[in-house]
Amino acid sequence: MDIKIKRGSVSGEKTNAAVFMVFEGEKPAGALAEIDDVQGGVISRTIASGEFTGKRDETALFHLVSGAGPERVILAGLGRRDKFTPDNLMRAAGVAAGLARKAGLKEISAHSDPPEGMSGRQFATLATQGALLALYSFDRFKKVEHNKKGLKSLTLLASDRSAEAELKKGAAEGRIIADSVNFAKDMINAPANEMTPSVMASRAKAAAKDVGLKLKVLEEEDCHKLGMGAFLGVARGSKQPPKFIVLEYNGGKPVDRRQGPYVIIGKGITFDSGGISIKPSEGMEKMKYDMAGAGAVIAAIHCAAALKLPVNLVAIAPCTENMPGGAALKPGDMVRAMNGKTIEIISTDAEGRLVLADALCYAARYKPRAVIDIATLTGACVIALGDFAIGLMGNDRELTNEIVKAGNAANERAWELPMWDEYIDAMKGDVTDLRNVGGRKAATVTAGKFLQEFVDYPWAHLDIAGTAWEEKGRPYCPKGATAIGVRLIIEFLKKKGA
Ligand code: BES
Ligand code: ZN
Ligand code: ZN
Repeated sequence: MDIKIKRGSVSGEKTNAAVFMVFEGEKPAGALAEIDDVQGGVISRTIASGEFTGKRDETALFHLVSGAGPERVILAGLGRRDKFTPDNLMRAAGVAAGLARKAGLKEISAHSDPPEGMSGRQFATLATQGALLALYSFDRFKKVEHNKKGLKSLTLLASDRSAEAELKKGAAEGRIIADSVNFAKDMINAPANEMTPSVMASRAKAAAKDVGLKLKVLEEEDCHKLGMGAFLGVARGSKQPPKFIVLEYNGGKPVDRRQGPYVIIGKGITFDSGGISIKPSEGMEKMKYDMAGAGAVIAAIHCAAALKLPVNLVAIAPCTENMPGGAALKPGDMVRAMNGKTIEIISTDAEGRLVLADALCYAARYKPRAVIDIATLTGACVIALGDFAIGLMGNDRELTNEIVKAGNAANERAWELPMWDEYIDAMKGDVTDLRNVGGRKAATVTAGKFLQEFVDYPWAHLDIAGTAWEEKGRPYCPKGATAIGVRLIIEFLKKKGA
């Protein structure tokens, strides 16, 4: 879908529908009141009767009788003005675009009137993201071509030249973010027989080419030379060669270059069968999304570069399948990670922490300012926090606070879990330094404590096991991959660039 910016009033615009985002319990005002007058009060009567109240996510569609202007009006609720959040605006844009698509409309225009305290630029960023994210669908394996029926354009109308410039900037930014999120979704939704580690590497290559990133893909032999016994241990059970993907973006000012980059690391298990500690078959098909962390970091660095954020950033995605092949790791086996620490394998299904361990060691070579890893790491996180909170752990108060803030801003919310020393005891090995499972208690935290054994820099860990997949579909987040983390990381980096 195209996003266009134009000067003029939406009431005079020839289009399939004029979209108005309205607050709960408020009468039509401005351009909407004008249209309402010309239409004999049909909109205000609908509001007065309570058929449309402006509640969050609520929509209404009116056919208009006359004229040269819009053929229809779409109303989308923003909820109460005193409870307004930027997320409500994204949702309203999302449900409006969804309704327009369902009605088979080709082009819509939106009245661009930012609520008090919000700039035109921010309004356009949010509206653009809401619409583009809502219209995402993963349908390339369907014979029917949904896209033929799709909405072709959204025009945002500006009142004057300066508003027009603001909206243009915001829409361009919103487009870049939404495209990157959707790029991640395409990787995560893809079936595991397509999205192998090699194909992940080729997606990373395409992203690198698109925005000029440096790409390095470490092959099995390279990883072997580096002593990545934990990562390679996981890869041993699969016929697919592992790929350790590294992308670098240097957008920082020369003074930042001396400070070391931010590093983001994403778990890239392209399919998690559990290995020899095989998972129950029910629901196993979902384990194609065990590379959601890797998808998120590849998309996030692509996005940071496309937005030209003034930061230095490295993205690392250790990618492999976790399969029970003849050479697979077995419970009781021992592996040695890149920092020399030995790990007894208790369950081959606790593979994410193994691949992350080597990636965290590798990150040290950058002398990073901070490292954030993101992973569908533990089923226990789903039990603890459910579908809408990321489990957050870390070793640096300032960093975890910044991540909480960025998550709130992006509505990809993170909730911090304790990382007290006592929790590491469960992970200590009898015959090795560590074991890869610490029992059922606090399994999300003990996984975090395990990871901490491989870091010597400010670090935060995001467990997205519960949030990476959407079961039902929400406004601007259709069923399937959520690509959670991309917008959080961008919010985090934006503050760094400021
Ligand atoms: N990929 C899974 C975690 C997961 C579970 C992600 C549900 C998304 C939804 C991970 O590799 C895993 O299997 N973890 C085990 C660890 C256990 C053996 C200590 C788990 O959480 O059960
Ligand atoms: Zn597993
Ligand atoms: Zn896993």
